Amino acid sequence: MSEKAEFIKDLALPAVAAPMFLISGPKLVIECCKNGIVGTFPALNQRTSEGFEEWLIQIKTELEQFEKETGKKPAPFGVNLIVHPTNPRLEADVKLCMKHKVPLVITSLGAVSMVVDAIHSYGGLVFHDIIKKRHAEKAAEAGVDGLILVSAGAGGHGGNLNPMSLIAEVKKIFNKTILLSGCISTGRDIAAAMQMGADMAYMGTRFINTEESKAPEEYRKMIIEAGANDIVYTAAISGVHANFLAASLQAAGITEEDLKKEHKVDFGKELDTEVKAWKTIWSAGQGVTTIENVMPISELVNTLKSEFKEAIEEQSKLLEVFPKG
Ligand SMILES: Cc1cc2nc3c(=O)[nH]c(=O)nc-3n(C[C@H](O)[C@H](O)[C@H](O)COP(=O)(O)O)c2cc1C
Repeated sequence: MSEKAEFIKDLALPAVAAPMFLISGPKLVIECCKNGIVGTFPALNQRTSEGFEEWLIQIKTELEQFEKETGKKPAPFGVNLIVHPTNPRLEADVKLCMKHKVPLVITSLGAVSMVVDAIHSYGGLVFHDIIKKRHAEKAAEAGVDGLILVSAGAGGHGGNLNPMSLIAEVKKIFNKTILLSGCISTGRDIAAAMQMGADMAYMGTRFINTEESKAPEEYRKMIIEAGANDIVYTAAISGVHANFLAASLQAAGITEEDLKKEHKVDFGKELDTEVKAWKTIWSAGQGVTTIENVMPISELVNTLKSEFKEAIEEQSKLLEVFPKG
């Protein structure tokens, strides 16, 4: 039996709009799912578990209504949970995922079999994000269904490994669903991720510049203006290394000296501090380099589809020339 997630073959494209702190909410998720790609959001984007449940109900209701009206099955949606001893909401949020049968749960930081078993109990899937092989091994032991390989240059808490080597290392030890994350902003990039052996592309930064994201106008403008060299990788803002737009660091008066400092984050006590930090200092990945506009998600998905098709067709022509001899 194949160990790959069954739902992938029913999608419009093998892509997930990745969960983003302060950026993704029900509007973005619903629009992604209606357009045939997986939409996700972090549970912590709602300040309380009650608020989180309201969003779950809204997403489920609107997607059910869409299916009734159009006869089309929407893509599954997902929720990101921070699995860390300092996240006081973890237990309550896992219970809500069980109550509402959230199709996909994306765990960050810790991969624990308690969460995996809870989500599996109703047939949900768990994907876990990792930046190195050791984390992949631990998550595989915990029984996750998929691994999200967060490579160098990714928005948010990006890793520092090249995607080629990260995917090669993980594929040696894991044969379930593999998602590649980091700088995937175009349909050609999605095709490239498939070439490299990924089952799905996991895209964050590109979705900041959609009409349905919660990002302020200035943030989106900064992304359009930025190139790969305008992204700064630092642990100074959130205690864990993450990628930020240089112009937003400058605007917040952060100096070179500040960038060398590190502090430990506590998801219970420091959520407010974290919100303040990420509200003024904007995260984005090196994939900003190909983002030149803000679009509605429906238009973005159509663009990604045609770019994907063009890239695969173009590449198949290589077989007329190579290999030789
Ligand atoms: C502004 C921003 C916020 C993010 N917040 C989260 C988060 O709350 N949880 C999480 O698992 N990943 C978060 N990420 C990481 C994304 O889920 C994803 O791994 C990453 O954006 C993919 O790389 P890309 O931005 O280069 O496409 C965030 C990324 C960005 C850009």
